[in-house]
Order: sequence, then C-alpha cells, then structure tokens
Amino acid sequence: MSTATLAPDVDELGRARFEELIAADEKVEPTDWMPDAYRRTLIRQISQHAHSEIIGMQPEGNWITRAPSLQRKAILMAKVQDEAGHGLYLYSAAQTLGITREEMYEQLLSGTAKYSSIFNYLTPSWADMGSIGWLVDGAAICNQVPLCRASYGPYARAMIRICKEESFHQRQGFEILLALMNGTDEQRAMAQESVDRWYAPALMMFGPPDDASPNSAQSMAWNIKRFSNDELRQRFVDMIVPQAEILGVTLPDPDLRWNEERGHWDHGALDWDEFRAVLSGRGQANSIRLGKRRRAHEDGAWVRDAARAYAGRQLSEVAS
Ligand SMILES: [Fe+2]
Ligand SMILES: [Fe+2]
Repeated sequence: MSTATLAPDVDELGRARFEELIAADEKVEPTDWMPDAYRRTLIRQISQHAHSEIIGMQPEGNWITRAPSLQRKAILMAKVQDEAGHGLYLYSAAQTLGITREEMYEQLLSGTAKYSSIFNYLTPSWADMGSIGWLVDGAAICNQVPLCRASYGPYARAMIRICKEESFHQRQGFEILLALMNGTDEQRAMAQESVDRWYAPALMMFGPPDDASPNSAQSMAWNIKRFSNDELRQRFVDMIVPQAEILGVTLPDPDLRWNEERGHWDHGALDWDEFRAVLSGRGQANSIRLGKRRRAHEDGAWVRDAARAYAGRQLSEVAS
C-alpha cells in the first residue's frame, strides 16, 4: 500500500474516533486527531480567554496602591495575581493545540486578537473593585462553570481550578459592596453609582443575543459550549437579583421583573451598539489597556532574555 492511500485512511480513522468521543461526551486530548475547524475555534476561544485574564489585571491593579486598608490591599493583590495565573494556565492549554506563546502575544499586542470588552471600561472609584468582583467575576463564573465540561481536555481541566478561584473573587467583590452599603450615605451612594455603571456591561459579557450569534451552534455541537448566550445571561440575572436585594443596591433596569410563567427574571434591552463600539476599539480604555500591555511586554524583555540564557546554560551543563 502506498503512503498516498494510507494518509486518508489515518484521517478517516481519526475522524471516526473524534466523532465517537464527542457523541459519548468524552474528552478530546492533544494527541487525538481533530478537525481543523475545531482546533482553530479552540485556539481562538482559549487565547482570547487568556488575553482577557491578562488585560483584566489592569482595571484592578490600578487600585492596589490606593486600597483603603492593608487587608483590602492584600486581598486585591491576591485576586489580581490569580488572574495572572488564569492567563498562564490558559496560554498553556492553547499551546497544546499547536500555537506558540509568542504568536499569541503578537496577536494581542498587534491588536488582531480580541479580549473581553468589559476591561475597556474605566475604574474611577474604589466601589468598582466591588462591582467588578461581584458582577464581572460573577458573569465569568456563569460562563465558565459549563466550560469545566468542555470537550477539549486541557481546557476543561484548566477551567476547574479557575472556577474555584473565580468564586472567591465574586465573594470578595460582594463583600466590598456589602461593607460600603453598611457604611455612610456617601459610601452607599458610591456603591450604587458603581453598580449603575457595571450592570449592563456585565450582562453584555455573555455576547450577542442567540439569533445574532452564528458560531454558537457549531460550538454546541462540539460540546465546547453547553448553553446559549441568552441562557447564560438569564442564569446570571436570576443569580444577581436576590444578591442585589441582600446588598440593598438597585439594579439599574426599569424592565427587570419576575416572570411567573417563565419562572425567571425578565430584563430590559441592552445597548448592542455600545457593545460593538467598545469591541471595535472605541471604548473608554482600549488604547490605555493595550498601550500598558505593550510597555509591560517591552519592559519584560530582559526577564525573557535572562530566562533563555539560564535555560541555555542549564542545557549545556547537562550536555557536558
Ligand atoms: Fe480569572
Ligand atoms: Fe476573577
């Protein structure tokens, strides 16, 4: 048998095995055959997720030096460091699909790769640390818990640890807002003003409505995505309404009401023009975030050089 006839057979066996794994809801591992489109979809999704974790360090890192107490500073530092860790697990998971770390950095720094639009909003008040933890990490949890069962093994396994940490992040944000809501009138007003700014952008984190989300069906067929954007958004709204009540904050949505028939909270329309504007680079902080990341990358060149030189020396010692 010539290799020309052998190659398609290998591919066919691989495809059959891949389809079996997906049908049985089992994990696809890096050494398994997978369709190019599945690989490309995962590289795009996991690398965008990694970029979001890394860029997401900035809006909160901005407050570390101004946190109101030593304890708040320690908690915030731990939270921001967790986000760096999430970025690193996810870059490693994406690398198992055949893309290099350098390629992913290049895509982020050149602006060709996207990251979550939520991080292009500014954080002018301390209460924003509360709103980010409660609403942004809260939305991330709703999005990410189902990803612990994603069909690609390295991604699913990374998500398990990430979700445990996100759950701590959400509680710390909630606790910041709770302390403010139990404080002075000024502190309560600060918390409410911040929730007013973050509520709608947090709801938009789940992406466009289902009828405007063309790639979702394929991702669901591949067991990467388990619930639609609107289903996940609904879970989030149902989760935060009772929490807002405990906090004593008002969610800025006049159309928010309990729908007895559906057994869910209805929410008002979202401003998708704003979402698209921020996504296309016209948000409050797009250029600030990317500029800072580029400078950090340049400033870190000596660390990468030193690590490479050290690794080279270790190798030559082993060889000699
Ligand atoms: Fe994270
Ligand atoms: Fe987080």
